[in-house]
Amino acid sequence: MRYLLLATLLLSTQPLWAEETNDAGENLYKSRCGMCHQLPEPGMLTAMQWRIVLETMQKRMGHLGMPPLTEAEYRQILDYLSRHARGR
Ligand code: HEC
Repeated sequence: MRYLLLATLLLSTQPLWAEETNDAGENLYKSRCGMCHQLPEPGMLTAMQWRIVLETMQKRMGHLGMPPLTEAEYRQILDYLSRHARGR
């Protein structure tokens, strides 16, 4: 049962790692948010929660000396996450 759940999770997140799309926000998300950990599933949080997470991640990037997201990147990623967030 546990394995079935794990397999389902893996399968359902697969498209996130699939090839590039025409969605600029999605591509940015994939390139900037998968560097320190696996890409989280956009549907796991609400748009409001993503907003808070993005703030936290910005700080974490800063602490590691990574270039923070620019204003435009931040907006595009938040836009992408919001469109796929939980409870739309
Ligand atoms: C500088 C490295 C780094 C980058 C880049 C990064 N994160 Fe994180 N993230 C972390 C760390 C460290 C944690 C906490 C430990 C863990 O869960 O691995 C974390 C945890 C998370 C969590 C779990 C909730 C939490 O706050 O612990 C989410 C969701 C998340 N990150 C989303 C993102 C998103 C979205 C992006 C892209 C904007 C991103 N991360 C980019 C370092 C990073």
